[in-house]
Amino acid sequence: MAISNFESQLAEISKNLPKIMESHGVHKKTILDFIEMKKRREKITFLTSYDFPTAMLAERSGMDMLLIGDSLGMCVYGYEGTLPVTMEQMIVHSQAVRKGAPNTFVIGDMPFLSYQGNLDAAVHNAGRFFKEASVDAVKLEGGRRIIPQIKAIVDAGMVVMGHIGLTPQSSGQLGGFKAQGRTCESALELIKDAEAIQETGAFLLLLEAIPPEVGKIIAEKLSIPVLSIGAGIHCDGQLLIVSDLLGLFQAFTPKFVKKYANLAGIIQEAFETYVREVKKEQFPEEKHTYRMLDGEFEKLKSNYM
Ligand code: KIV
Repeated sequence: MAISNFESQLAEISKNLPKIMESHGVHKKTILDFIEMKKRREKITFLTSYDFPTAMLAERSGMDMLLIGDSLGMCVYGYEGTLPVTMEQMIVHSQAVRKGAPNTFVIGDMPFLSYQGNLDAAVHNAGRFFKEASVDAVKLEGGRRIIPQIKAIVDAGMVVMGHIGLTPQSSGQLGGFKAQGRTCESALELIKDAEAIQETGAFLLLLEAIPPEVGKIIAEKLSIPVLSIGAGIHCDGQLLIVSDLLGLFQAFTPKFVKKYANLAGIIQEAFETYVREVKKEQFPEEKHTYRMLDGEFEKLKSNYM
């Protein structure tokens, strides 16, 4: 087939891709789908992802949303917290996730100091996630004190997810990675934050490490979907960190984590077996080697040996 013919066929397929996907039952969810899911009490499934392979597997599993969390600082780069994570790292990982999960709603997590300062920088950095990594939304940590940033990003036409409760970027002020909203006074503060975030135009809200009673009040009060990571069963959906779910992250395990696999154990065993087999010359075996063509080794021997 001539290249130009091939290219025009490719262009035609790309143009019709949304219709083709719909006809095969593949529908990329939007914020409207999530609002409908909340109304009919269908739980939203949400997972962090930092790379192409996990994003691809998550999409195949029917995951509703993926978060490129700045938790990648700890889970991928081995930092002690999330503060050192840069916009550049977030963009590169967001691009990989988007490539692995082209039909899933993906959310880019704005890293520390990419939005807390002036509003122009907040809009610019949020926009980079959309322009360079084709995300569907960005997430910002903080309650009423970041309302101006949420407003500026929403006013620029972008979808925002708020994040309150245990906010790792300000964990120093919280006295560490501690559950929030455990007193009446702090629960009331969280409820006011949640209402203000919805009022400002955020489309989604994430609650981290708060009691289920408080999660329930907020999820019932708000009309936008309210997701939970350690905020109880009553929220509109659940988020886990992929490295926790798979049993890969070993530094610490928060109370809200359920490990669905022990990949660290499986990987460790595979590495140890490989080391042992190489040392003992059990690997590679005949089936892993490339043989010379018939008669070629004899020729080589007569030329060089
Ligand atoms: O970075 C992240 O993965 C997050 C979760 C901890 C909510 O923000």
